[in-house]
Amino acid sequence: MAARIRAEGPLSFNQWVEACLYDPQDGFYSSSGSAGRRGDFITSPEVGPLFGAVLANWIDNRWTDLGKPENFVVLEAGAGPGTLARSIFAAKPKSLTNGRYIAIERSEAQRKIHPEEVESVADFPNDAITGVVIANELLDNLPFHLYSADGEKWYETMIAGQFEEEKGREVEPPMPLPPQSGSEIPVQIEAHKWVEQAIGIVNEGAILVIDYCSTTPKMATEPREKWLRTYRKHQEGSIVTKHPGTQDITVNVAVDQLPDGFNINSQADFLTSNGIKDLIEEGKEIWKKESATGGLEAIRARSRIVEAEALLDPNGLGSFSTLEWLINQ
Ligand SMILES: C[S@@+](CC[C@H](N)C(=O)[O-])C[C@H]1O[C@@H](n2cnc3c(N)ncnc32)[C@H](O)[C@@H]1O
Repeated sequence: MAARIRAEGPLSFNQWVEACLYDPQDGFYSSSGSAGRRGDFITSPEVGPLFGAVLANWIDNRWTDLGKPENFVVLEAGAGPGTLARSIFAAKPKSLTNGRYIAIERSEAQRKIHPEEVESVADFPNDAITGVVIANELLDNLPFHLYSADGEKWYETMIAGQFEEEKGREVEPPMPLPPQSGSEIPVQIEAHKWVEQAIGIVNEGAILVIDYCSTTPKMATEPREKWLRTYRKHQEGSIVTKHPGTQDITVNVAVDQLPDGFNINSQADFLTSNGIKDLIEEGKEIWKKESATGGLEAIRARSRIVEAEALLDPNGLGSFSTLEWLINQ
């Protein structure tokens, strides 16, 4: 990276994040980085199969709304190691009896370990679909620009020489914001484009984005550490300009920078309105009947109670946001 900066000059923050996470040789996700217990961070699908079982309900509800089409497609973007896909298949959604599940994952290392039921690809397919696009914790991982204010104006933050930050060109923030000295914001052009692309590929159906979210004006009043974080092996990583390629870089998603037209809910409310409580009750019943045998099914059923606590926690995963765009429904 140092050689590239010497040759090309300072990188925008967007280019920096892109290289740190996705450089084909040295990017964090091109080598060992991933979600999971043996990976670097735990996401909702990695808590256990309950999250996927609720999403399977949501998928079947969208399929029913569309009149149960035979050619229904689930596109899961940023599928990581395929854990969510495994849980969704385990829940046996009716929509997939004759449907297709396409897992879009940029990292080849992770595509290689996807389950065999899914079609694994690196990018959006060309053909439009009838169905849904799902992305859990993808948008927070897309490269973004960083703007900082000096009391009078906003500037793009660049990464120079030995990876120190420096003031770049003067810029306009995505909405009018006072250029208070020390104020910083992420500018998430790639996240906006990704949602536009997802909307563009769905003829009829829905887009579901699940992520930790905020707004640009809120982030402008907070220190950067509140919305820009690094992770490695389940620990917070070091500062974002250190050790390129060895840690995840993630940012709160500014919902005001995304295309309009979504319904927003907390993850806790979304899971509740898509049947998590029934699945917990069902788990308790199975445990009551089968605990004496101690079989795997009984243990799985019981673990739903603990998984639900984590998924609904108002100070943790339950506080994430779900954003739904309904297309031609
Ligand atoms: C934080 S991980 C989330 C993985 C999984 N969805 C989960 O919730 O456990 C984000 C994943 O998105 C992938 N990714 C990033 N940009 C992508 C893109 N444009 N298209 C597909 N996958 C992408 C990364 O390689 C990484 O595996």
